[in-house]
Amino acid sequence: MHITLIAGSNRHHAISTSILRYIENLLKSNNIPVSFIDLAAVQLPLFSPDSEVVPKEAEPLITSVEQADGIILGTPEYHGSISGTLKNALDYLDNRHVAGKPFLTVSSAGGPLGVSSLLHLQSIIRNLHGIHCPEWISVGEGQSIFDPNGLPQDKEILGRIAQAVEQFIALVKKLGHDSKHSEKVMMET
Ligand SMILES: Cc1cc2nc3c(=O)[nH]c(=O)nc-3n(C[C@H](O)[C@H](O)[C@H](O)COP(=O)(O)O)c2cc1C
Repeated sequence: MHITLIAGSNRHHAISTSILRYIENLLKSNNIPVSFIDLAAVQLPLFSPDSEVVPKEAEPLITSVEQADGIILGTPEYHGSISGTLKNALDYLDNRHVAGKPFLTVSSAGGPLGVSSLLHLQSIIRNLHGIHCPEWISVGEGQSIFDPNGLPQDKEILGRIAQAVEQFIALVKKLGHDSKHSEKVMMET
């Protein structure tokens, strides 16, 4: 099993990125191999369908998603949607890289919750033929879950994050098994 995490905030010390780093550590401490793509560190060129070659900066993203059994996306809530940074990265992907793969989504908002961005991500994932986990994770203002050193503080929120990750990993295992060991089913009409 291999999980790819994509942090979609173009901000240093972003809360959504800290949550993804926390999840990365959870997965690693359970011996689950991960790749981490921080879009604040890897600045991707603006996607253009006119480009005939994939820019070299986008190659690790595409390869990592292709090789992943499950994908975790993090975004800040921007104007009731996802960040332009994450949307630009997702535009480099298509169904060939993603179809049938489970996703977990994480948002950070200035308001109490960032559900609009999560709904928009759910729609993007459906259009890429990915499968969203029944759980998602959103933290809002006032839920100061990390201390200034980036270490987790609020045990209840961290417990909910761990539960969502557990459900996601259960789904990755189920779908990984089904897609690798089942024959394609043809419907009789
Ligand atoms: C351009 C912009 C638009 C924003 N729009 C919203 C919004 O619609 N709703 C909201 O709750 N917070 C909004 N915020 C606040 C961010 O969601 C909040 O600061 C969040 O914690 C940033 O996440 P990050 O730390 O992971 O980058 C906005 C911030 C920026 C810079």
